[in-house]
Amino acid sequence: MSLQIEDLSAGYGRLEVLHGVSVNVEAGAIAAIVGANGAGKTTLLGAVSGLLRASAGSVRLGDRDVTRLGAESIAAAGLAHVPENRLVFPTLSLDDNLTLGAWTRRRQRGSKSELATRRAQVLAYFPRLADRLTQPAGTLSGGEQQMLAVGRGLMARPSVLILDEPSLGLAPLVIREIFAALGRLRTDEGLAILLVEQNVRAAFKVADHAYVMDRGRVLMEGEPSTLLADERVQQAYLGGGYVRVSAAETESDRPVRSPAVRVEGDEDRAHEGDRP
Ligand SMILES: Nc1ncnc2c1ncn2[C@@H]1O[C@H](COP(=O)(O)OP(=O)(O)O)[C@@H](O)[C@H]1O
Ligand SMILES: [Mg+2]
Repeated sequence: MSLQIEDLSAGYGRLEVLHGVSVNVEAGAIAAIVGANGAGKTTLLGAVSGLLRASAGSVRLGDRDVTRLGAESIAAAGLAHVPENRLVFPTLSLDDNLTLGAWTRRRQRGSKSELATRRAQVLAYFPRLADRLTQPAGTLSGGEQQMLAVGRGLMARPSVLILDEPSLGLAPLVIREIFAALGRLRTDEGLAILLVEQNVRAAFKVADHAYVMDRGRVLMEGEPSTLLADERVQQAYLGGGYVRVSAAETESDRPVRSPAVRVEGDEDRAHEGDRP
């Protein structure tokens, strides 16, 4: 099921933050949205998942217009939102956290055996969670908590997954593991995945399509490799002050499309090119 965001405007009270944003994610594809702090990325996800009311425009899941629905109904329609602070229930076990994820789509929660089947499927994407089922979620590492937050979203068998900066504060290896799982979910389950990130390199590596947001608008969109090579994008990143991009180096194991690029200021060179 695709996610189509068309001309969406939203904000807080009288403050309009999004000014007509259009983003499209096909089933079986990952779209990345990057942009500096305050660009409106989190606001966009809130408006998509029904936490915020859109003032104009539309959100569609497949053929269904969900613009006016509340968060619970949108979740029931097949959207899972993994918010930015990996909100796990710290005193509950990892397993109980997962089980709670299945409840967000109440009517389709299904039988105990269906739940067990789904749990096993989800754990296969994040094998290191499988060894920690009884552990209180609050005692997991940051990376494990993020995996759990994603896994909990997956328990409801969504068709569309939206994630807000899942890599934030995590080590490069763990980021790679999580993004690799997203790549597999895209392929195996045909999920439409919308990934909001400030880690441009990691996000663009896994994404099929990319958007740059700035001050509540989509500034540019295109293939990740094309965007990275674009001078205006480089300017935007430099303006954001968190990443420098230069056309230079060939990444070894990625199918090279258009000009190969390297992101400077990245400590994870050793793992360059591990596209999931
Ligand atoms: N709850 C809120 N109330 C008022 N303004 C907000 C609120 N949340 C975010 N904003 C404003 O909306 C703009 C976009 O914020 P946000 O969507 O969080 O950006 P990003 O996720 O890209 O960093 C910012 O100017 C921010 O100050
Ligand atoms: Mg944000």
